Amino acid sequence: MAKAPVEAPAPLAGAFDVGGFRSELLRWFNENARDLPWRKTLEPYHVWLSEIMLQQTQMDRAVSYFERFLLRYPDIVSLAQAHEDEVLKLWEGLGYYTRAKNLLRAARVVLKEHGGTFPANFEAVRALPGVGPYTAGAVMSVAYGAHRPAVDANVERVFSRVLDIDRPVSAPEVKRRILAAAWELLPPGESRAFNQGLMELGALICAPRSAECQRCPVSRHCLARARGTVNLRPVPKPKPEVVRVDMACGILLTEGQVFIQKRRPNDVWPGLWEFPGGVLEPGESPEEAMVREFREETELSVRPEGKIAVVRTSYTRYRITLHGFFCRAEPGQDPKRDHRLHEAVEARLVSPTDLLTFAFPSGHARLTSRMLEDVRLQTLLSAVD
Ligand code: ADE
Repeated sequence: MAKAPVEAPAPLAGAFDVGGFRSELLRWFNENARDLPWRKTLEPYHVWLSEIMLQQTQMDRAVSYFERFLLRYPDIVSLAQAHEDEVLKLWEGLGYYTRAKNLLRAARVVLKEHGGTFPANFEAVRALPGVGPYTAGAVMSVAYGAHRPAVDANVERVFSRVLDIDRPVSAPEVKRRILAAAWELLPPGESRAFNQGLMELGALICAPRSAECQRCPVSRHCLARARGTVNLRPVPKPKPEVVRVDMACGILLTEGQVFIQKRRPNDVWPGLWEFPGGVLEPGESPEEAMVREFREETELSVRPEGKIAVVRTSYTRYRITLHGFFCRAEPGQDPKRDHRLHEAVEARLVSPTDLLTFAFPSGHARLTSRMLEDVRLQTLLSAVD
């Protein structure tokens, strides 16, 4: 059986009622666990998929994507055989696309190295692309009942309050202390319910801004509750400054088709499709930026043919205002033949309705919908270049 690291400090005070905490949390989880699709089977592929989807994603959203994903890829072998573009398309809207790429890479590792059966030991699960210690602990305990803790952001918040930790949970020594507490509290033979109980408690009761201590099954063990510091825990990490950026892009129409390009693998939004464009320079209008970016990225000279929409989107600490324009190639140029890509690995001309089968970053996806609803589209498409 796996043990807590020997060098870990004793995280819980001697008076801490470990047995009481365990039994009260387990009883509560037994009576209050949400009915989630991946809790119906304990199939490791389902548990792993749910854990990857739940990273950075709200529960309701993850549930609908999870069900759709399994209809398309009912088992890990069908996923391993998928094309990356298709997986990215199914992932469109969930964000953090590296998760989808790693999911596919991991499914291929499972097929190649484990004969298509999801591995059942911690080190092998941890070695899969996209799987960190939390995900490996969650999959091992939830799918197989292994004696492993699973400390995600919900669990960190619960422990920051139970132990009344007065430093941000992002600090490495705080992380170590919380992990050691999670090991110490883990009840032998009950890791599946206990780990999920902690996460569920964090999601439903010990919530970020509105802890409902009067409904909490373990409030009598909570130091922050006793000291009146619940609302001060976890101590917030200093926030990176929000940066506002204006961007512009051009939807080039030519002979009834639209020009799109595929982003490079080591860039932001790797492998997604987009319309050429970029960030406005100081003093530049959105139209000017679009024309300049189009030339820099593709060597095509274009002229704007009307604004489609302005959409707002976010990426990490950036708040992006994206100006989208119809545009057309300047006379004498053939977009199909004359483009030279500098910021992308591939370009295609596709019919506007086919755009819906490509995965775009959310701003470009929203612009696509707006363009397809635009009454000018048919006229512009049928106009001679
Ligand atoms: N968040 C991530 N995984 C979870 C799980 N298994 N139960 C509840 N919340 C979760």
